[in-house]
Amino acid sequence: MPEPIIHIEHLSRFFGTVKALDDLSLEVPAGIVFGFLGPNGAGKTTTIHLLLGLLEPTEGQARVLGFDTRTQAEAIRAHSGALLEFAGLYERMSAQDNLDLYGRIYQMPASARQARIKELLTHLDLWERRRDQVSTWSRGMKQKLAVARALFHHPSLVFLDEPTAGFDPIAAASLRNDLASLVARAGHAPRAARGCPCRSTQQPSPPGTARREQDGSACEPAGACGCRN
Ligand SMILES: Nc1ncnc2c1ncn2[C@@H]1O[C@H](COP(=O)(O)OP(=O)(O)OP(=O)(O)O)[C@@H](O)[C@H]1O
Ligand SMILES: [Mg+2]
Repeated sequence: MPEPIIHIEHLSRFFGTVKALDDLSLEVPAGIVFGFLGPNGAGKTTTIHLLLGLLEPTEGQARVLGFDTRTQAEAIRAHSGALLEFAGLYERMSAQDNLDLYGRIYQMPASARQARIKELLTHLDLWERRRDQVSTWSRGMKQKLAVARALFHHPSLVFLDEPTAGFDPIAAASLRNDLASLVARAGHAPRAARGCPCRSTQQPSPPGTARREQDGSACEPAGACGCRN
């Protein structure tokens, strides 16, 4: 059986007395869109930071794409794309320059960068506005650009932390469809095309908070899409 793309064993992260993540174990196979649901403060963002090696676990371990998060974080980040809570776009640059810079960081050749910019911005309906300074874009447009950046270098795995946060319902549905079709077009995750994550899990609710229902409308929280390349 192939190794899961994400393998988490008894992972915990404490900040002083705050148990941000407490004994999480799960496996995510390749080729799916995986939704990771939970209420505010449940530890979703902390989990993504741990999986990217941006935080050290207090206990437990995790492997991503076969790499250990403690010792091989650079390799994980080289093969992953991430949209974290703060998009971190360069607002005074154009959309195409933002993506081009990102591609340069990943040492993509100029022709590949240009082709990828056109492909993603066209698909996300942003191509006509590619030369605008990003600061002049709407929040939803910026978020789409951040998604495009996360996908830009053809990563094997993409982490998206609340990619539709702040969107209106139509824009959220549209972005989910965009993501599903981008994954499907890459030849992966046929189940993603059906919308909400084919598999999902919930973090335990902190005491006194209600659990969110797991349903077809709730795929905007932190998610990870694993591809087979
Ligand atoms: N750097 C930090 N220092 C101290 N506490 C932190 C830190 N990062 C996260 N926490 C705490 O860890 C807990 C989990 O936070 P986290 O951001 O992972 O939750 P989340 O599930 O992503 O929530 P949300 O849905 O609001 O984004 C919270 O109680 C938070 O206050
Ligand atoms: Mg969060």
